[in-house]
Amino acid sequence: MKQDPSILDSISTGIVKFDEKLTVTAMNASAEALLETSLTRCLGQHAGKLVLDPTQWLAALEHALASSNLHTNRGIALTLHSGQEIRVDVVVTPLTDHDGALNLLVEMMAIDRLLRISRDESLVHAQETNRAMIRGLAHEIKNPLGGVRGAAQLLARELPNEELAEYTRIIIREADRLRDLVDRLLGPNRQLDLQPRNIHEVLEHVRNLIIAESDNAVTIIRDYDPSLPEFACDKAQLIQAVLNIMRNALQAAPNADQCEITLRSRSQRQFTMGTRVHRLVCRVDILDNGPGIPAAILPAIFAPMVTGRADGTGLGLSIAQSIIHRHKGVIGCESRPGKTHFTFFLPMELHDAKAS
Ligand SMILES: Nc1ncnc2c1ncn2[C@@H]1O[C@H](COP(=O)(O)OP(=O)(O)O)[C@@H](O)[C@H]1O
Ligand SMILES: [Mg+2]
Repeated sequence: MKQDPSILDSISTGIVKFDEKLTVTAMNASAEALLETSLTRCLGQHAGKLVLDPTQWLAALEHALASSNLHTNRGIALTLHSGQEIRVDVVVTPLTDHDGALNLLVEMMAIDRLLRISRDESLVHAQETNRAMIRGLAHEIKNPLGGVRGAAQLLARELPNEELAEYTRIIIREADRLRDLVDRLLGPNRQLDLQPRNIHEVLEHVRNLIIAESDNAVTIIRDYDPSLPEFACDKAQLIQAVLNIMRNALQAAPNADQCEITLRSRSQRQFTMGTRVHRLVCRVDILDNGPGIPAAILPAIFAPMVTGRADGTGLGLSIAQSIIHRHKGVIGCESRPGKTHFTFFLPMELHDAKAS
């Protein structure tokens, strides 16, 4: 039976087949998109012609050819003929066909800049250390604050005249304000409540909230992959994470009726996060057409207390990141005027998402 070629074209991984002389013999639609070319243009061409700087790329192919073993190469930089640079993870599998001829099957997965940032273990580690420090500090503030508030209440009862009570009221009010700030700094603290859920329940919930918050003024475009299965996650916390991201988009828009947010869901196979390859992950993209994140704060956007708004706390994205990390996922962001793009990935193996 002949394989339906549309199957190969519908997967997100780019696949190119070469013969032993490294000439292109087949290519799926994702590879055409990734390499900004077409099969007709490349058929019969040498692998070295596909990109402008083929050294690293050819080395990976030749290595697999010489060793006859599967060869994985992470983060190869390729310059396309348009001048655009892309970075890909490449898996090269040598295959022998019926008449003994050697072929190479090359799988290519693009890793964009945002993912390189979010997958950077040392950066994630630094952010986690910061968060731990802030949590520690928050606890240290909270304990004496309770004492200050309690003492002010006792003092209020002993005061000889009502005018002086205004001072104790100020102490109590400001202590409460500080306590609220500290609680927000501490963020969601409870264990994850993992239940099998579909990511679209989360996205739809937040979509309704944002529509209500904007008085029905925003446009929200949904681009869901309906085949995404349920997986173990904490729905309430994921709602919080997505809400924090989408609310920022709404707040950044000059006015709500010009605000357009796109919600996209996809599945991705064999995806590396940290040191693990996950069989299946759920990818969510949240894009908006607003003014973009100010360049000065973009590199530190997930750090706590980094804000671009006069009345902001800078905690929204820090909390969102912390929730995604607790689900063993990663989150990243890219932004320029007119296009801000948040992406997060969550592992979908049910038994994997243990609460941390
Ligand atoms: N979609 C977006 N468009 C423009 N700016 C954004 C967007 N998302 C986040 N930002 C910027 O990032 C800052 C930090 O966001 P966040 O962590 O939620 O804290 P806060 O909203 O309290 O400032 C915001 O103040 C804003 O300047
Ligand atoms: Mg916010």
